[in-house]
Amino acid sequence: MSTLTVRKPNLDLSSGFPRHWMGGDVYRTAFMNALSMSFPLGEQMFIDSVRAAPPEAILDPLLRADVKDFVGQEASHRFMHQQFNAELARQGFDYTLEPRMKWKVERIRRLPVQDRLAITCALEHYTAMLADYVLRHPEWLQGAEPRLRTLWSWHAAEELEHKAVAFDVYRAAGGGYWKRAIWYLHVSLAFWLDTNWQTVHNLRRDRAVWRPGTWTSAARAWFGWRGMAWSLMTPGLGYLSPRFHPWRHDNRALLRTWLESNEDSVRAIGRTRA
Ligand SMILES: [Fe+2]
Ligand SMILES: [Fe+2]
Repeated sequence: MSTLTVRKPNLDLSSGFPRHWMGGDVYRTAFMNALSMSFPLGEQMFIDSVRAAPPEAILDPLLRADVKDFVGQEASHRFMHQQFNAELARQGFDYTLEPRMKWKVERIRRLPVQDRLAITCALEHYTAMLADYVLRHPEWLQGAEPRLRTLWSWHAAEELEHKAVAFDVYRAAGGGYWKRAIWYLHVSLAFWLDTNWQTVHNLRRDRAVWRPGTWTSAARAWFGWRGMAWSLMTPGLGYLSPRFHPWRHDNRALLRTWLESNEDSVRAIGRTRA
């Protein structure tokens, strides 16, 4: 059996949600919205990259089953975030980076498969770090609209669950250290520039760029007590170790705890037989 379970959250976002759904916090809402806007294109790129790996390279039947369920999980994340983003569009928030991202994804598609996988591994490391933060610090989503708290924590739980799949495929496809490290540095720069650019764009739509409260909230979110910057620093650098593997940091207990306390929020669809 695959080590992953494909699940669907019991959520209906068709009635919309409040504009500042992160407990009224304008900065944190803008940041999370920026992440969500990047997911549909990004997660499709992850799916296409692992699918591009030559099947003869993936000899382990368990990894093959994991790849199938990785695709299933990312596809349902895409679907839910498309609904979330549709509501953002109704609220007047546009994904200003979309044409640039489409161009980037097209360029990535033309790269050799190991490079595509190295880019996917780097971005999956970012999603895994953010997921660990969200589940380890429930106060981050404390004031969030309840359905959206479920959406984000379900996504975080599954990002933890499948965090090593792209990495294992990269290694099975013969990917080595330097390619992985160089792409990580490149992806890190692009990820932070793009996410911050879109966040500021979202704040501009809210006429909140020049409000001091916006930036005190940002400073608290990143550099305050239990701020995100402190939590991302060590694992962020850890990726550059030649001995890095996503499961060297075993945070499966976080996933188990979340699943146990959210049984009613998600429906298991299935698991692929190895
Ligand atoms: Fe995802
Ligand atoms: Fe993922």
